[in-house]
Amino acid sequence: MQITKMRENIHQLSVNVEHILFEGLWEMPRGVSIHSYVVKGRETALIDGVCGWDGVPESLFAMLDEMKIELKDIRYLVLNHLEPDHSGWLEPLFKLHRDFTVVCSEKGAALLDAFFDSDVPVRVVKDDDEIDLGDGVKLTFKMIPNVHWPDAMVTYEPESKTLFSCDAFGSFGKLEGSPFDGDYSDDALAAYEGETVRYYSNIIGAFSPFVLKALKKLEPLDIVTVAPAHGMVWSSHPETILEAYRRYANASKEPSGRKIVLLWGSMYGNTERAVKVAESVLKSSGMPYSAYNVMETSWGTILADLWMASGVILAMPTYEYKMFPPMAAVLEEIGKKKAQGKLAYRFGSYGWSGGAQRELDDLMDRLNMNWTFIEPFEFKGRPNESDLERIRRDTESLIRGVDERLTKADNPDE
Ligand code: FEO
Repeated sequence: MQITKMRENIHQLSVNVEHILFEGLWEMPRGVSIHSYVVKGRETALIDGVCGWDGVPESLFAMLDEMKIELKDIRYLVLNHLEPDHSGWLEPLFKLHRDFTVVCSEKGAALLDAFFDSDVPVRVVKDDDEIDLGDGVKLTFKMIPNVHWPDAMVTYEPESKTLFSCDAFGSFGKLEGSPFDGDYSDDALAAYEGETVRYYSNIIGAFSPFVLKALKKLEPLDIVTVAPAHGMVWSSHPETILEAYRRYANASKEPSGRKIVLLWGSMYGNTERAVKVAESVLKSSGMPYSAYNVMETSWGTILADLWMASGVILAMPTYEYKMFPPMAAVLEEIGKKKAQGKLAYRFGSYGWSGGAQRELDDLMDRLNMNWTFIEPFEFKGRPNESDLERIRRDTESLIRGVDERLTKADNPDE
């Protein structure tokens, strides 16, 4: 756990969490940090909480102790979002202390009732409501529903121009040392971006239209510091994370990065023979690519890499008249996360009948994925030389198609 002084009257309280699955589902190879913020005027507000794993809420209480803040000193408890990674500490808190006002959105108040047996004073806030902490320190609010849950809001402190954004503009990746972007080299920040894309695609991606709405709504604010509840605090270049989120949200629907992701699965090595040919074409073309065996790779890793890719190859056999099941499972999740608008190619082996393609077409329709496919190719049993030559040509065609789409996206009037 770590306490960071951001200004004389604003402190970040932080814990790192590792070796858990976020939401019980998403792996985090580099962990995640969870932050709470203390803002002081004449009165004190605590914004969001750190909790749930790793000995918290004891960690939060220990940090408050270290700052010589007693629970009775906290006048306002601002809950930007009620998901238990930020709110799971409320129950023990309510047992210790109840003499404060919870500040949250209307939907947050309903969730507070649903999750906790609480009987604490609640102040429901709306857009631009203001709480005066005294000594020139104020808190104002903007509702940003569905970034990530319907209750989500941000808190803005006008004197310091700090945006406490909770899940919005957050990242995976535990922080050791400074939480400020200005203390990291360009190379370190570039490496860290992978954790931001992983967080965005795994946790926020399905809500991309709401992210764009939130960015629009926040435009009038003069934001000097973006202080999310997960990951880096952006005080040197706050525009970096705001623009990154715009890019990631747009990537939900439009061609994004020059990259192809090859997802494959194989029962007896027949589809795998063809995968090797497709991969050798990708390798020699210079097109950036990743290849993942869907049996061996987590959904989170696949989704993170696919999010900013413009092209996808799906290589899988028919299995009992349907798609190879692990491929069907990951595609279902990719569709639900709204990774849409890719240029794609599918090939694979079948034995006594096809069927994978029909299920794939149905899935694409049902989840409105809006992927454009070049002509799929299925071969019976083991691929022969002619089959492999066809896959070679099709992969080259996909590569050309990705480049043409990106050129068109860059020059929409041509
Ligand atoms: Fe960090 Fe949606 O919780």
